[in-house]
Amino acid sequence: MQTSTTTEKRSLFSWWDLGENLIDISDYQALAKRRLPKFLFDFLEGDAEDGFARSNNAQSLNSVQLMPQRLVDVGEVQTKVDYWQERASMPLVLAPTALTRMFHHQGELAVACAAEKQSVPYVLSTMSSVALEDVYAANPNTWFQLYAYRDRAISQRLIQRVVEQQGRVLCVTLDAFEGGNRQADRRNGLRLPFKASLKHITDAARRPKWSADYLRGEPINLANMKEVQAQADGTSLFEYVASQMNPSLTWDDIHWIRDSFPGTVILKGLLHPQDVLKAKALGVDGVVLSNHGGRQLDHSISGFQALQLLPKGLSNDIKVFIDGEIRRGTDIVKAMCLGAAGCFVGRPYLYGLAAHGQPGVEAILDILNSELVRNLKLIGCASISELNAGLVMARET
Ligand SMILES: Cc1cc2nc3c(=O)[nH]c(=O)nc-3n(C[C@H](O)[C@H](O)[C@H](O)COP(=O)(O)O)c2cc1C
Repeated sequence: MQTSTTTEKRSLFSWWDLGENLIDISDYQALAKRRLPKFLFDFLEGDAEDGFARSNNAQSLNSVQLMPQRLVDVGEVQTKVDYWQERASMPLVLAPTALTRMFHHQGELAVACAAEKQSVPYVLSTMSSVALEDVYAANPNTWFQLYAYRDRAISQRLIQRVVEQQGRVLCVTLDAFEGGNRQADRRNGLRLPFKASLKHITDAARRPKWSADYLRGEPINLANMKEVQAQADGTSLFEYVASQMNPSLTWDDIHWIRDSFPGTVILKGLLHPQDVLKAKALGVDGVVLSNHGGRQLDHSISGFQALQLLPKGLSNDIKVFIDGEIRRGTDIVKAMCLGAAGCFVGRPYLYGLAAHGQPGVEAILDILNSELVRNLKLIGCASISELNAGLVMARET
């Protein structure tokens, strides 16, 4: 009798309080889908062309299995890691994402505060919808992601502003000088600057809470770029900034950035092992092996595969992060076993943000942390630093 009453109560509860039984990233993904207009959820999920690069990101992680060791004392486990002058609560970094206020009116500020509270780094995008000064005021440990522009004066000014905020880490993204062919966005008529079509208005009308928040907030713009508005000369700021993306960037520009920024410089969007060797030779401090979440070059290898192509021992000399479909504590464990310094995540925290604002981002971090702790125990390692290549093997095909 007792059992049946409990079951009845539970099912009634979960029926009307549908969104609240959120135990993993996919639950937040489903909730974000219910909260955001379709064209925006499609933008968040977006991948290039046929989506092979994105699906391969997940498949490559699944192609490695874990070999736990037994009878190790894992009563207490340690997930903390050191990134240059900082201590992080776990080897996880919130990746840069553009125009985050589109997903929730608090946007980058909510993400920065969640990261500060849970002691993980957050990388603010150049293309953020909140100015970098406001984000540094909320979280002084923020890292800044830079796109290096055709006009060096624009990049120089951004670097100077980061230095003025005492920003310590600059993350230069190298794989987005040309927009990826995201066909869902093209089908949805989504382009910047955003001009609402009948389809967008119909999509938004189905999501009244999102629409009310969106209409209440400041118009969304490239908040870090207001200073160059005057140079836009009749075109919109978005068009001007897009025209400044630089397909002619070379290692000389990286040399220049390395010399211009007094702190830590990491390069994001590398995949080729030779490029990692060049980055190291140039005195860069770290790299993020990434295919931009499969949003740029379809059929590109994943960051996880690129990690396995590095010459042995290289990751002892330069910090190597990876990203792409990191969704579980076991994904982080696999990357760390193979020598990664940590994992970036993009879409997962945007799901949390779209669902519940700052508490949603915190919940995503909690989920990944508790999975990491549990999986460290189950694999038989008392500390992140004990993870090693002997604990993984390739799945037989
Ligand atoms: C909506 C969205 C916007 C993004 N904007 C940027 C950006 O401004 N700069 C950048 O370097 N990467 C950007 N990225 C890529 C992420 O930093 C990261 O490489 C990618 O999301 C990792 O894959 P994951 O989403 O599967 O975790 C963006 C990704 C998404 C989903």
